[in-house]
Amino acid sequence: MNSKQIREEFLRFFESKSHQIVPSAPMVVKNDPTLMFTNAGMNQFKDLFLGNSPIKSPRIADSQKCLRVSGKHNDLEEVGHDTYHHTMFEMLGNWSFGDYFKKDAIDWAWELLVDIFKIPVDRLYATVFEGSKEEGLEADEEAKQMWLKYLPADRIIYGNKKDNFWEMGDSGPCGPCSEIHVDIRTDDKRALVDGASLVNQSDPHVIEIWNLVFIQYNRKVSGQLELLPAKHVDTGMGFERLAMVVQGKQSNYDTDVFQPIIQKIAEISGKTYGAAVKSDIAMRVIADHVRTIAFAIADGQLPSNNKAGYVIRRILRRGVRYGYSVLGLTEPFLAKVLVALIETMGKAYPELVSQRELIEKVMTEEEVSFLRTLETGIHLLDNEINKTKAAGSSTICGKTAFVLYDTHGFPLDLTELILKEQNMELDKDAFDLEMKAQKDRSRSATSVETDDWVEVSDDDSTEFIGYDYTEATVQISRYRKVKTKQAEYYQLVFNVTPFYAESGGQVGDCGWIESEEGRFEIKDTKKENNLSVHITETLPSNLTANFAAKVDIEKRKLTQSNHSATHLLHQALRQVLGTHVEQKGSLVEPDRLRFDFSHFQKMTDEEIEAVERIANENIRKNHALNERRNFPVAKAQELGAMMLFGEKYGDFVRVIQFGESVELCGGTHVSSTSEIGSVKIISESAIAAGVRRMEAITSTVADNFIKNELDTLSQVRTLVKSKDVVKGIEGLLSENDSLRKQLAAFEKLRLAALKEQLEAKIVSVSGVNVLAEVIELDSAASVKDLVYQLKDKIENLFLVIGTEIDGKASLSVMISENLVKERNLNAGAIIRDIAKLVDGGGGGQAFYATAGGKNPAGLAAAVEKGKAYIA
Ligand code: SER
Repeated sequence: MNSKQIREEFLRFFESKSHQIVPSAPMVVKNDPTLMFTNAGMNQFKDLFLGNSPIKSPRIADSQKCLRVSGKHNDLEEVGHDTYHHTMFEMLGNWSFGDYFKKDAIDWAWELLVDIFKIPVDRLYATVFEGSKEEGLEADEEAKQMWLKYLPADRIIYGNKKDNFWEMGDSGPCGPCSEIHVDIRTDDKRALVDGASLVNQSDPHVIEIWNLVFIQYNRKVSGQLELLPAKHVDTGMGFERLAMVVQGKQSNYDTDVFQPIIQKIAEISGKTYGAAVKSDIAMRVIADHVRTIAFAIADGQLPSNNKAGYVIRRILRRGVRYGYSVLGLTEPFLAKVLVALIETMGKAYPELVSQRELIEKVMTEEEVSFLRTLETGIHLLDNEINKTKAAGSSTICGKTAFVLYDTHGFPLDLTELILKEQNMELDKDAFDLEMKAQKDRSRSATSVETDDWVEVSDDDSTEFIGYDYTEATVQISRYRKVKTKQAEYYQLVFNVTPFYAESGGQVGDCGWIESEEGRFEIKDTKKENNLSVHITETLPSNLTANFAAKVDIEKRKLTQSNHSATHLLHQALRQVLGTHVEQKGSLVEPDRLRFDFSHFQKMTDEEIEAVERIANENIRKNHALNERRNFPVAKAQELGAMMLFGEKYGDFVRVIQFGESVELCGGTHVSSTSEIGSVKIISESAIAAGVRRMEAITSTVADNFIKNELDTLSQVRTLVKSKDVVKGIEGLLSENDSLRKQLAAFEKLRLAALKEQLEAKIVSVSGVNVLAEVIELDSAASVKDLVYQLKDKIENLFLVIGTEIDGKASLSVMISENLVKERNLNAGAIIRDIAKLVDGGGGGQAFYATAGGKNPAGLAAAVEKGKAYIA
């Protein structure tokens, strides 16, 4: 079977067991503060396990794009060095939400692997949980009994908490698990060493292939395990590993999932895969990373300097670095590898095809800038090496290497590699100390302590009614305390809420809740999985009271005006620039909107004008809001609603339509477009290769903006004393121009007169023409001009000039070159001496030097002292 067939077989099998097949959720997680990336198939169902969302289908199966590069599940360091770990991989999974449990999960896994995928029975092993005293958990004898139906006892192995108790992160749903391992060694090797002894021992050919988790607990933030109301099944099988086994290969990278990509890298670098360990590793790293980068960008996660974006940037840099230092790829190459990736995966994942241009541009831009970083880093390191060698040492100090790494983004292993080539070494202990200090600093700056939820009532409903109401009577169902370095606050969950929780770019509502005790401010509302979490600094003492919840309507109205305007601008952008325009990011606040979209060049003034005009025309057409809730997703697509990659849509969606603008959206909106008043675009700029950012304002904010601009204009009109401002200013500019010319002419005349006066004051002292004067001139340039003219005209000249310019003392000494030699005079030395009298300092050449000082009152004395050098 090729990999496509394997994926289809898996899904078909579980479909035949009454599972609903669902699409993969996005790889980048948007509303779970405990997670940046999807690290397991079960993430998108976390709420179902916890009981926060109603279960619609009790049996589900899918293939999920996962990324394990941060947090609890992080495989990054293994990737490329071994043959079976990946940053991004596909996880085939089947789930039961309170439906079937261990028996069916085990029976079906066996049936699929043995009957459908024909994996020889004698190559399979199962592990079961051995129990944990500290957690108070028993061994999973139940699972063992079930496995005994298929496997002899010596091929069922007990495993500890690390291997056989699966947890998503530090908190969340979890439970004991039973893993299926497969032994793909040759028969010779199998005869020598018993496979059972290699299970979970990092042998590349005796590996875990499928994990069956029996979810029964929720790990609380405090570390405590709490029993969930129902028992669930969560299984995950590594698709790439399954392909390796089914296709009879010894490495994931030898399957049809990776080979085309690997061969492309071999072609680009002129190296052969399989020829040398180091270059093989580099090719595997790049083949793995290019998938992660491409899928992340397609999911809307661009590389950046923080959070998820930074993780992606680091992965991209890791790939480029392997290419650069091992394969000799010193020019951007990822876009070329992308071609092979799209050929292999583009059919199953159409987002790769539709986002191709953007992915290419972003990748290449990142590469170019990182390659520049590498060059700068190598240059800096070379300097440091030379300095260290010159000082007779062969150890580069840890701090320098850390600055290279931390400030310049230069990879540590590259530093070490270069040092090794030069027979140098790094003071690694000192480096580690710097690193630790840095980590401590950032940990203490960002540390957030979140307590466990405290239940106030049993009511688990958390209905959002804010589309229809901005006030409601609510009860607190749970709360918890959060402490950060800067603040301490509480998060409240209500049984029902009119507050919109931040999502889809729209900021959360603010407002108040009131009880007999008084008024408590709600500072913000955020979404956590499916919960709306309300933030307040003070906790009411009577938590079980009824509260009157009131949304801050002024802010809400401005926000929704900006949200609806965002839709109209999006539509106008697609009309003016073309349908390649897609939303890449959005921020909707009360006082402005920001919209990021894919487009490959700067918008012209005419295009911006056209977009603004079309959006304003639509505002004036007064389109009524056409809101469809719980609308079938397929029908929404028929209406022309845009689906964004990287967003998670259910089977039923909310559609927001204003005239021809149709979007899937969960935000709040105006009831008809005239409420927006008007929209004014205030900026258009680039934020990344192929991504533009537009900022705009609406409603009273736009009115105020326009009013301020008009006020300024009217002030200008008064100043230029003309109704026609442009003409008025043009008049002033040309008058200014001619005055400047006149002034320059006068200045010339004045200098000439001054020069004549000064010439008359020259006295001869022992054969030297001495001129020492304090004069009036208002610019240093004029003084310089003057002394040079005098030097050119007068022979044997010794000149000391003092001037006050802008309240400061300025001194110049000019000496004819012949005198410098014959009489051994030095203008620089003289000026340093006399500048003391004006509280200043200066310097220059032997024939000409200048100085400045704070004390103009000392100018006359300084000039006299200068003159004394000749006397
Ligand atoms: N959640 C388990 C895992 O990731 C099984 O899907 O291994």
